[in-house]
Amino acid sequence: MFKTRITEMLGIKYPIIEGGMMTLGRAELAGAVSAAGGLGTISANIHESKEELQEEIRRVRSITDKPFAVTISMFPMEMPSELTGDYLDAVIEEKVAVVETSGRSPENFIGRLQENGIKVFHKVPAGRPAEQYAVKAEKIGADAVVIAGFECGGHPGVNKVPSLIFIRKAARAVSIPVIAAGGFADAEGFVAALSLGAEAVTMGTRFVLTNECIAHPKVKEHLLKMHESDTMLAQQSIRNTVRVVVNAAAERALGMETREARFDELISVIGGGKGKKGWLEGDMDAGLMACGAVIGLVDRVLPAAEVIEEIVTGAKEIVNRLNSIMR
Ligand SMILES: Cc1cc2nc3c(=O)[nH]c(=O)nc-3n(C[C@H](O)[C@H](O)[C@H](O)COP(=O)(O)O)c2cc1C
Repeated sequence: MFKTRITEMLGIKYPIIEGGMMTLGRAELAGAVSAAGGLGTISANIHESKEELQEEIRRVRSITDKPFAVTISMFPMEMPSELTGDYLDAVIEEKVAVVETSGRSPENFIGRLQENGIKVFHKVPAGRPAEQYAVKAEKIGADAVVIAGFECGGHPGVNKVPSLIFIRKAARAVSIPVIAAGGFADAEGFVAALSLGAEAVTMGTRFVLTNECIAHPKVKEHLLKMHESDTMLAQQSIRNTVRVVVNAAAERALGMETREARFDELISVIGGGKGKKGWLEGDMDAGLMACGAVIGLVDRVLPAAEVIEEIVTGAKEIVNRLNSIMR
């Protein structure tokens, strides 16, 4: 049994969370993760109306009656801000258990979500000092803070602080539960996160390589062959750093940034629709594709339930091994 403030807060079996994933955060995967005892997450930003998001929420409920989350990403260029109100109405009407927010502070609507019984987990990159935004998340009343270390797929922020340091600093600084994200894919990483003071892990990259993830089979094949050094940072010049697969689009974006290309030129390469084509049609050079360095530790596509099972079983064996070392 696993008992942390996160498992207790949500009534879930395991402190393992699927992070919000643009394009890929659909009901099939979220439902499978939640049904297996973790916390699955669907992405709000994929949907173009309140009704469309509600339909997706109901699709998760047709798979499982367990709690799950909806992520609302507020990164520049990813936020159709006119839809925020619709997303909020949808999660409130549907009584979703958790909203994960990222990219900007949810301070304008956190109270409204919580009054409606929804827990808010805010995901933060490292500031200066690293724990700066975690402390702010606690101040605005977040129920938990998700720490996005430098290794993570998606947005690690501009300050480049690796998970090992950032999680520890955040856990020392705040009293709300800390959730570790960035570089976790297996039992060893999971135990390390708990030992740093985290009360759950959020994984994105590991869950891409599951049977239930809707990524094109060619993408999964490509990702399986990748090493930890096959991701890179893009969009640093516009302070919207993102860790992505090294591919033609990412190299082109970096080239443009190096020669200080105009934003409208850059957007033609980094625009979200192109990455979507990559994920769903298997064209690995079409656009930017978020991916964490932990891809180097992932060598099999498994059902989401097996990913979780391997982590929890492995964690117990690791703790026994550690106990035998420290007698
Ligand atoms: C394909 C992909 C898409 C992602 N999209 C989002 C997103 O839209 N919003 C967000 O807050 N985080 C997003 N993330 C970040 C994840 O929620 C999570 O924080 C991160 O993957 C954890 O690091 P890991 O990749 O090392 O597991 C994405 C990650 C991946 C791999």
